[in-house]
Amino acid sequence: MTRTLISLALACLFFPGIAGATEKQPRAKGIESPGYAWNTPDPDLNRALAYKASARRGKVAYKICRGCHLPDGTGQAGEVYPQLAGQHPSVVLKQMMDIRAGRRDNPKMFPFSGEWIVSVEELADIAAYLKTLPPPAGNGKGDGTALERGKALYDKDCAGCHGRNGEGDNKRFHPLVAHQHYDYLLRETRESRDQGRRNASPEMVKVLRGYSDADVAAVSDYMSRLTLPARP
Ligand code: HEC
Ligand code: HEC
Repeated sequence: MTRTLISLALACLFFPGIAGATEKQPRAKGIESPGYAWNTPDPDLNRALAYKASARRGKVAYKICRGCHLPDGTGQAGEVYPQLAGQHPSVVLKQMMDIRAGRRDNPKMFPFSGEWIVSVEELADIAAYLKTLPPPAGNGKGDGTALERGKALYDKDCAGCHGRNGEGDNKRFHPLVAHQHYDYLLRETRESRDQGRRNASPEMVKVLRGYSDADVAAVSDYMSRLTLPARP
């Protein structure tokens, strides 16, 4: 909380543009609305994906984000600030556009997501930069009491989309979940099950519908311990 206030204050100081960004996050149709279709074409997302992004420029533009996601992109253990290092560009960009359009609720980050502070091209550059950062080994983990159950659930229900090692899939907009903080995984999985993450994949929600809170905890703990092969 304190950290958020500090980053907001600093951001207002360095980016006077955001002081004018007092608009409330809009609300668009999500999974709770009849007729919702996941990942419908978004002109800004298509523009960002087609843009020839530069990690070098992204490193500079990322200054808007580092107050919350930290300079190395690893976020904070706990349920609030996800780690972004090594995340797929398509995932970063889809989530940003969903937040801008109000398909994913994120009032905290909304002031840092709009045209008034960051352009579509800069977002593409930031996504390219995040992809180059190594995901953290020291991410938050669960208590380790139900890992066998977690593995069984993950391999059966999740690996088909998120990958055996939690590597995700850039082409399909499937997030990297390896190296993500346990508390964040827990909250996102629970909120997806309960339709609180409004931009969620309906196919994934169908799988989660039968999950108890204990199942969600077990699978989240297992995911938090998945690791990508070390980079050379
Ligand atoms: C004021 C703090 C704050 C700032 C600044 C901020 N974020 Fe975030 N960000 C958050 C929070 C909190 C969440 C988790 C939202 C949720 O729970 O749904 C988040 C989520 C995300 C996600 C979704 C991650 C996932 O795994 O689904 C992405 C991508 C992201 N932020 C990128 C950025 C980028 C890029 C910037 C800079 C342009 C930025 N953020 C600036 C607080 C912030
Ligand atoms: C049909 C493919 C599919 C299956 C199966 C699936 N997921 Fe997902 N998952 C997705 C997609 C797509 C997203 C991103 C949704 C969006 O666009 O916001 C996602 C997002 C997530 C996130 C949030 C990640 C982040 O960075 O914010 C978590 C956690 C997650 N899934 C856990 C699970 C678990 C646990 C299972 C198995 C019980 C599972 N998923 C099964 C496709 C799938």
